[in-house]
Amino acid sequence: STILVLHGPNLNMLGSREPEVYGYETLADIDDRLRSRAAEQGHHLLHLQSNAEYELIERVHEARAEGVDFIIINPAAFTHTSVALRDAMLASGIPFIEVHLSNVHAREPFRHHSYFSDIAKGVICGLGSQGYDLALQAALKRIHR
Ligand code: DQA
Repeated sequence: STILVLHGPNLNMLGSREPEVYGYETLADIDDRLRSRAAEQGHHLLHLQSNAEYELIERVHEARAEGVDFIIINPAAFTHTSVALRDAMLASGIPFIEVHLSNVHAREPFRHHSYFSDIAKGVICGLGSQGYDLALQAALKRIHR
């Protein structure tokens, strides 16, 4: 099966961006690890980071046409703002897990609300990049193809 990992705005800065909050690993480190973990188990993992809302939305539309089985998404700041990306996730009908590196509930009040959590299969936050690994493990358990 095919898993798509989507990363929202500013996550291309991982490693140098507020490392005390987001960790020292780069996004490439995370994506490479996820890709090899998925490959080990015979799955195909695609990924995209974008700072542009429309690119993420269009990627979700393509995912549906491509037959992507599961999405792991860290919508980053769009978590708290984007009805449009939420609607794209709903339109795709593809099950997804929402991941945040930081514990958004321990931070500013505007980070406590997510436009994705109520429609996600599950939500992982506060565990750093391990959250992506756990999400992949959960996704693979939920798709048996
Ligand atoms: C984030 C949390 C968001 O509030 C923030 O805007 C981000 C990253 C996280 O992974 O902890 O950019 O999604």
